[in-house]
Amino acid sequence: MFAMPHAYTSHEYDCAAAAENMLIAARSLGIGSCWIGLGMPLGSDQNTLAELNVPEGYRLMMPLIFGYPVKDIETPPPRDADVIFKWIT
Ligand SMILES: Cc1cc2nc3c(=O)[nH]c(=O)nc-3n(C[C@H](O)[C@H](O)[C@H](O)COP(=O)(O)O)c2cc1C
Repeated sequence: MFAMPHAYTSHEYDCAAAAENMLIAARSLGIGSCWIGLGMPLGSDQNTLAELNVPEGYRLMMPLIFGYPVKDIETPPPRDADVIFKWIT
């Protein structure tokens, strides 16, 4: 049997990594996407869960939207790495 410390669960990290991979994969296919944190309340809306055929015991983790852009996806300008992070030594 595989056991983990009671307090440790990784499902939220796992789902976040999967979500990020989905967003990156979508971009590579020319599909637009956005992570919609504001959609989290839908996870407690029984009508929405029923409409999406969400099985009993499952819950919403990361609402993502996907769609075909009406115009070309803009490539963001290069970022100055020093502004984004700084190594602390
Ligand atoms: C946890 C999380 C929740 C987000 N929720 C929203 C949202 O509710 N509405 C929205 O327009 N974008 C939302 N985003 C997308 C961000 O606004 C932003 O587009 C994305 O993080 C990419 O940022 P960047 O283009 O600066 O790299 C969310 C992103 C994350 C990581």
